[in-house]
Parts: sequence; C-alpha cells; structure tokens
Amino acid sequence: MSERREQREPGRDERDQHRDQDQGRGREHTDGPDGGYRARFRVWRGDTGGGALEDFTVEVNEGEVVLDIIHRLQATQAPDLAVRWNCKAGKCGSCSAEINGRPRLLCMTRMSVFDRAETVTVTPLRAFPVLRDLVTDVGYNYTKAREIPAFVPPEGLAPGEYRMAQEDVGRSQEFRKCIECFLCQNTCHVVRDHEENKTAFAGPRYLMRIAELDMHPLDSAGEQGLDRQATAQDEHGLGYCNITKCCTEVCPEGIKITDNALIPMKERVADRRYDPLVWLGSRIRRRRG
Ligand code: SF4
Ligand code: SF4
Ligand code: FES
Repeated sequence: MSERREQREPGRDERDQHRDQDQGRGREHTDGPDGGYRARFRVWRGDTGGGALEDFTVEVNEGEVVLDIIHRLQATQAPDLAVRWNCKAGKCGSCSAEINGRPRLLCMTRMSVFDRAETVTVTPLRAFPVLRDLVTDVGYNYTKAREIPAFVPPEGLAPGEYRMAQEDVGRSQEFRKCIECFLCQNTCHVVRDHEENKTAFAGPRYLMRIAELDMHPLDSAGEQGLDRQATAQDEHGLGYCNITKCCTEVCPEGIKITDNALIPMKERVADRRYDPLVWLGSRIRRRRG
C-alpha cells in the first residue's frame, strides 16, 4: 500500500461514517420564490493528509445541476473549494465525483432527482487518491492507457483506403462514445477497495479498449506478433473481472461495457484456451505468420 494511500485512509473512513449518519437526516429546507429553495449540502474538504465533510446551506434554483451548486458554494461560501470540470455538458468527463455515495457526473446530475429535504453529500472518487477537496489523481488511468498498444494499420493500405462493414463500424462506435470520465474504473470492486490490484488490472475502460481493438477487422497487431487476447488475460487482468456489471450501471454514455466488450472478450479467450480446434487453428495461423 502506498504512502499516499495510507495517509488518505482515515479521511475515507470518516467520509463513509458521515455519509452513514446522513441517512434520515437533513429535514430542514426553505422554499423560495420561482421554485428556488435552500438545500443542505455536505462536501468533502481535505487533501492528501486527510480531511472531513463540511456542511453548507445553499440556494438552489429551478433546473440546476449539482455542479451549479458547487460553483455557487465557490462564489459565496468556499472560494478555495477545488473541483475539476470543463464542459458542463457531459462530454469532457472531468467532473466525476460521488453524490450520496453513487459515482456520477456533477454536471449531469439534476438537483431535481433529490428530495428537497435530503442532505446531498458530495465526495471525491473513492478509488483514486485525493489531491484536494473533490479533485483526485486519476493518473492510474493514463498509465493503463499507455500500456495498450495502438491500432496497427493493415500493411499496404493508406488511411482513407480502409474499408469496413457497417456492422463492424457500429460495434466499435459504441465503445468510442467513452468520454473517459473513469466512473467505471472508480466503481469496479477489483480496485475500489483493493489498491494492490491496480498493478495487474487495467479496469473496465481499458479492457474495453483492448476488446475494441481485438474486434477491429483491420487491426493487424496479430501479424506483428501482438496477441491482444493473451495480453488482456495475462497482462491486463481480464480474469479478475467477474462480470458484476457495476461498471455498466454507472457509465454516463450508456455503453454496455460488460455485455458488449468484456464478456465477448472472455468468451474468445476461453475458446482459445479450452476449445482444442480453435487452439490448433491459432497455432497453425501463428506458425504460418
Ligand atoms: S463487470 Fe468486471 S470490470 Fe465491470 S465492475 Fe464488474 S468486475 Fe469490474
Ligand atoms: S466507459 Fe463509460 S464510465 Fe467508463 S470511462 Fe468511458 S464513459 Fe466513463
Ligand atoms: S464538466 Fe465535462 S463532463 Fe461534466
């Protein structure tokens, strides 16, 4: 366990404890003109050395999202509150956090989904080390991204000469909707409470990337000796995934990560390993190559 992780643990426990205490509390709110009201918020404040939840009462207006409220807190009560965001349109993937314990995008979570009497608790992503307040160090994801070799173009074809069946285009199109918000990475139980698994496990987003490349009819990695299925299993921890689908449930793009990427990938790996005919065919192909 890293030094940073050890430093953070007391903070996380305290956050969970406060979150538990929230259940059933926070019954005071005041309705205002034009549908506005004052809501109770609890926001994690702290850094690598630890921190605590801080209580706020803050104005909420019709149609606002949680990110609006965080911005209002910055403007009126907590000017040094750190939050990462960029597009406020669900497209950049940077405003990921946990709201009442559920991984969500701050900019795509409407205040109207909460009961007005409810205390809304906002905490940083749990699987990654806190830098400050709601901002975490998501470097794990970039490290994993760099470990996956890029698409290998077919020999003798220039970009623009590639031709693919529409069905193949459609299949990878789903995976290309990913906005790299890392909510799936944060939710996956393999790393959420097991820092030690991060070395061996790429996480759903990057296993999906390998699956996408493996399904790509023009990817010529195999001809260059790169076996994407073997690397998924042996180097990126596909075997750790027990298809709980938690990653799919939190994906804001609605990508069926488990059903359309991870399970088919697992099936192909299993076919290769345990179907003698498929195994023989792959050996012959490799020898010819
Ligand atoms: S389906 Fe696999 S990758 Fe997704 S959350 Fe479950 S264990 Fe993790
Ligand atoms: S797959 Fe979905 S949840 Fe995971 S990083 Fe991409 S958009 Fe976010
Ligand atoms: S600010 Fe870009 S996704 Fe939320």
